[in-house]
Amino acid sequence: MAEIVSKSDCKPVSELLNLGIVDELKKQPIHCIEDHYQFVLIYQQGEFFLLDNLCPHKAAALCDGDLKGFEIQCPWHRAKFDIRTGRGLSPLAGAGVKSWPLTIEEGCLMADLSAAD
Ligand code: FES
Repeated sequence: MAEIVSKSDCKPVSELLNLGIVDELKKQPIHCIEDHYQFVLIYQQGEFFLLDNLCPHKAAALCDGDLKGFEIQCPWHRAKFDIRTGRGLSPLAGAGVKSWPLTIEEGCLMADLSAAD
């Protein structure tokens, strides 16, 4: 299971969700993020990607899935998603999961949740 990260060293910024210190987040490829909502944070090939964590099929946590290149595979029934867009790549993935924009502020990774429904 992926580690839940600490973000206590990063100050909160209005309208942005603080995901943690960039250098710390780079130490592993997949993080489970919980902050009123569940996300999977992926660090792959020098870039971060943030997606909704729950698989649209039966709500497995994608942060417990397998990462291969720019694909993450659901741990339960192997639905595949493109980590760059959240787009579903197999029938059980349906239309996929939401992808969130990220920014770096003073060494901390921030998610812009202003586009939340
Ligand atoms: S719960 Fe993800 S494929 Fe079934």
